[in-house]
Amino acid sequence: MAILTPAELASIRRPYRAASLLPRRAYHDPEIHEFERREWFHRDWSIVGRESDAEAPGEYFLAEQDGEPLVVVRARDGVLRAFYNVCQHRGTAVVEEQCGKAVRFQCPYHAWIYDLDGKLIRAKHTEDLDDFSFETFGLRAVRLATWQGFVFVSLDPAAPELSHFLADLVPHWNRFDFGRLRSARQVRYDVGSNWKFIAENYSECYHCPGLHPQLNKLTPYDLGGDYESEGPWEGGWMELAGNAETMALAGGHRDGRPAILGMTPLDERRVYYYVLWPNTFISIHPDYVLAHRLVARGVERTTVVCDWLFDSATTALPGFDASDAYDFWDMTNRQDWHVCELQQQGTKSRSWVSGRFSNQEASVHAFDLMCADHYANDGIETRRTVRERYDTLPPKKRGERWDCDRRQVRRPPQGSRRPKT
Ligand code: FES
Ligand SMILES: [Fe+2]
Repeated sequence: MAILTPAELASIRRPYRAASLLPRRAYHDPEIHEFERREWFHRDWSIVGRESDAEAPGEYFLAEQDGEPLVVVRARDGVLRAFYNVCQHRGTAVVEEQCGKAVRFQCPYHAWIYDLDGKLIRAKHTEDLDDFSFETFGLRAVRLATWQGFVFVSLDPAAPELSHFLADLVPHWNRFDFGRLRSARQVRYDVGSNWKFIAENYSECYHCPGLHPQLNKLTPYDLGGDYESEGPWEGGWMELAGNAETMALAGGHRDGRPAILGMTPLDERRVYYYVLWPNTFISIHPDYVLAHRLVARGVERTTVVCDWLFDSATTALPGFDASDAYDFWDMTNRQDWHVCELQQQGTKSRSWVSGRFSNQEASVHAFDLMCADHYANDGIETRRTVRERYDTLPPKKRGERWDCDRRQVRRPPQGSRRPKT
């Protein structure tokens, strides 16, 4: 049985101009939140950091996935690994510092010692125990893989390979090498909203003229287009207007910051926005990448971790100062969180059952379709509506449609999900 009713799923899976948003209870029902934790956050690959956060042997950082405490560490063999940060003796958190460099990990309680590759190497007074060996009491490993410098984990030992999970996004980003990027600034926001409201908000710019006048000046809300995607992502681009060169305060200038490696002249006139299922947004600017990671804390609480990633050669430039980019997005983020919190409050009312999409919200529908297909887990991937470039199209006549018709394609259940019995 799907967690949403057939009627609810059908109303989302209608063609875009006839479709409804997710039902109210998808944002408020603890049972649905538990389903999302169990079936999505626990199993699907999610970004927890950057490779550069643990670059040299011994360097580590703490992470969290679906409420599980993890430690990501580069061992002496140069391999990056992830473990549950849980001592196998009596369950104490072994590593306390958020990040650092270690020779080995010693549990603060009874001093069991683990090597950087997770092996238990010292546990006093265990030599005469039955059925006990150092080999079987190491830190418990978690699946880890990297792509474009991002560190992904999955708590599901049966998860497919990351490249299989990412599907058509891998060739789509072939021209980029984000492995060179480092986080120059990280801000964590506590938002009183369901994580899906935040993802829907990120997916459209219908709200930009009113809510983000500064952003709308640099990238007018109605200049852009969407990509047709089949994998666990949806995305598109917006055009930089006038002499804007990036998203930053004071007119959007790069102040000498070079373009990221792989950028084409066309890329340098755009900002790309991607939602990577389930919980990451990647915004590619000519000179930096902004990454938002959502950590769902409950039906109406989300931590948003926001990183500004720059090429290490750029941050090494004399006088490097990207506060114009940090402050621009910090302002924009807070504008967004405010309306997401208002939406969380408003949709508590039983008077709101589900909304409708304007003709500027095809990408919101695309995100909701990803949710609906994952809720249903029936092997159907509903074809997402693609907004064509409409900066170059003639003005639309009333009733005219530019997007492709929605069709449904039947595929085997995607990713790690297994068909329900
Ligand atoms: S709980 Fe870690 S050594 Fe006892
Ligand atoms: Fe916004």
